[in-house]
Amino acid sequence: MAKILVNKSGPLHGEVKISGAKNSVLPLLAATIMTEDSCVIEDVPNLADVSVMKQILKKYGAEIDDSEKGVIKTQTKEIVSCEGDKDLVQEMRASIFTMGPLLARHGKVIMPMPGGCTIGKRPIDLHLKGFRALGAKVTEDIENETVTVEVGPSGLIGDVIYLDFPSVGATENILMAASMAKGTTIIENAAKEPEIIDLANQLNKMGAKIKSAGTDMIRIEGVEKLSGCVHEAIPDRIETGTFLLAAAITRGDILIKNAIPGHVRPIIAKLRECNVGIEATPEGIYVDARDRELIATDIKTLPYPGLPTDIQSPFMAFLTTVKGSSVVRETVFENRFMHVVELNRMGADIQTENREARVPGGKKLHGAKVRATDLRAGAAMVIAGLVADGTTEISEIYHIERGYEDLVNKLKSLGADIMKTDRD
Ligand code: UD1
Repeated sequence: MAKILVNKSGPLHGEVKISGAKNSVLPLLAATIMTEDSCVIEDVPNLADVSVMKQILKKYGAEIDDSEKGVIKTQTKEIVSCEGDKDLVQEMRASIFTMGPLLARHGKVIMPMPGGCTIGKRPIDLHLKGFRALGAKVTEDIENETVTVEVGPSGLIGDVIYLDFPSVGATENILMAASMAKGTTIIENAAKEPEIIDLANQLNKMGAKIKSAGTDMIRIEGVEKLSGCVHEAIPDRIETGTFLLAAAITRGDILIKNAIPGHVRPIIAKLRECNVGIEATPEGIYVDARDRELIATDIKTLPYPGLPTDIQSPFMAFLTTVKGSSVVRETVFENRFMHVVELNRMGADIQTENREARVPGGKKLHGAKVRATDLRAGAAMVIAGLVADGTTEISEIYHIERGYEDLVNKLKSLGADIMKTDRD
């Protein structure tokens, strides 16, 4: 089983380029099956989740050309199947982003219940609520763990849909389905993440009529048909945050290129509270934690524009090393503290109660055998390993490879003592 070995490293220094955003690219790819024309998605990271999405789309009838690095060309002349492959869907929750597109183009979708990181119950009730509001019939087969969504004789019809929580995935699925519904759809309490704007921009290039994406009330005028597009994904804001934290925990200084400062404002704000120096320059985001006394701060995850839940675990790893203690509150997912057990193996001494973790600072972490229990927990282990005495051996690294492009080599180029090994 492949592992990542991290040795205590000095301050990171140099430049790193951020890849296209995983969480944008997955729905951007899903949206391409809404048209029979060819679509080109650019700045696509080389990730396991992207490979899964390509396989899923091929089963629906997409022809995919990925011969050029970072570019995926798709064309779905015809939908040949509307049934999600159980194994692929179990592998990646984002498979459900194909429900809206299939419903819009084909009128029917059969989806096994999704898998992905085990960070909470993660139901799909809000996605289904949206489809129902657009007039689709939803049949849940509890025994076979599948759900069938079908459009009635009059097709999808626009409506006002209030989301009880601003779910990213539900907003994206409804956005795609409503793009080809009759009349107007309004999504109230919509998610406002930059990935939603990216998807709306791509759909608008394809001929959709979406207004106010990025606010909590999105308005969609349905159109009959969508056409092809060329679209470049936004840079990955969680990868950006991870490198900000890698520089901060090692008390280094790095320039993060291809990053959008506005997308990581809450991460920058909280790191500044810890006395990390961060500056947006024309070349990128410059982070400088050299010769500074870094101090504790409390953090709380929230939907955008709050602090992203996906950065909570790497941030927690960083907080173990600063002066003073912090409280970390997770409000988005109910089970996202699995990394605490692993950080404690490294000497962190974190206590949790419900959705709150008390993180003592000033810890001298030590290397240990730890697991990447989910994608972002894996990033936390890498970050912690950079400053832990001795060697940190991280297993289950397929989780990390689902969402970080070339993390080991990028960190190595900044001076980290890190390697991937296939040896036991
Ligand atoms: C997306 C991101 C993920 C990120 C998350 C929150 C992708 C591929 N993944 O996941 O990295 O951590 O946003 O920023 O973009 N919920 C319901 N019912 C639903 C849907 C969601 O109760 O139908 C709940 C979830 O259980 C969770 C919360 O809403 O507690 C947020 O989930 P959501 O925003 O939907 O996350 P994802 O789209 O799955």
